[in-house]
Amino acid sequence: MRLAFAISAILALAACAAAPTEPAAPAAPLSVAPMSVAPPAVAEAPKSVALEITEANFGCIRDMKAVRGFYVGNLLGNVDATVAAASAGEGGTYPVGSVVQLVPGEAMVKHPAGYDAATNDWEFFELDVKPGQPTKIRVRGTSQVVNQFGGNCLSCHAPAAAKWDMICEQTHGCLPIPVTPTMARAIQKTDPRCAPTALADDEKAALAQLAAFLGAARPPAAGQ
Ligand code: HEC
Repeated sequence: MRLAFAISAILALAACAAAPTEPAAPAAPLSVAPMSVAPPAVAEAPKSVALEITEANFGCIRDMKAVRGFYVGNLLGNVDATVAAASAGEGGTYPVGSVVQLVPGEAMVKHPAGYDAATNDWEFFELDVKPGQPTKIRVRGTSQVVNQFGGNCLSCHAPAAAKWDMICEQTHGCLPIPVTPTMARAIQKTDPRCAPTALADDEKAALAQLAAFLGAARPPAAGQ
């Protein structure tokens, strides 16, 4: 069991590591500090063990598991349970360690129960992703996290029907974003940390449309 855990943890972390095209980026260390000493079986992990999350846990979005239009991983190696929660037709609570991303620059990570009742124990991240550089965490936290366009993550995600555990997709009841599924796919394909991949014509058009929208909508004070 210990070995199985260790292997799956390494695989999961490898999935979240920086793209192989970036030799300068350090490999993701096992960042769940208490567990790296004596990893218990995932199912027996005490709920109170804190999950330490660093920027090394984030990498090329397309190295994670695709579920419909978004990507998932699990920092504790429990990726099958995360995929199961994401795939369940009737929703469900995501397991501790789950990482969910629609776009390279934003992520949700599930902490152990008791982390924050208001967010269902999710932590929200805004990430800085640049070509040839390791991921940087720009902002992280719970109810205070605002994305670069001034939107509060929790305000938009909290209205999701309870069974979806604050995961929005297009139909779960969240406040909408101006990013269409085609735009999201194009943004995923142009994650600067991933190996380049070709864009279909509709994806190129979607990116141009998004750039025009952001150019018009971005508050001048944001400046970056
Ligand atoms: C204006 C509302 C809004 C804001 C602000 C917002 N989101 Fe979302 N988010 C959504 C919607 C709607 C989707 C689903 C989009 C889709 O699937 O087409 C989504 C999708 C996601 C997903 C993929 C899983 C899912 O819920 O479908 C993640 C992860 C995510 N957002 C994280 C964040 C983080 C982190 C922040 C803050 C830094 C944030 N979001 C800010 C509305 C918002």
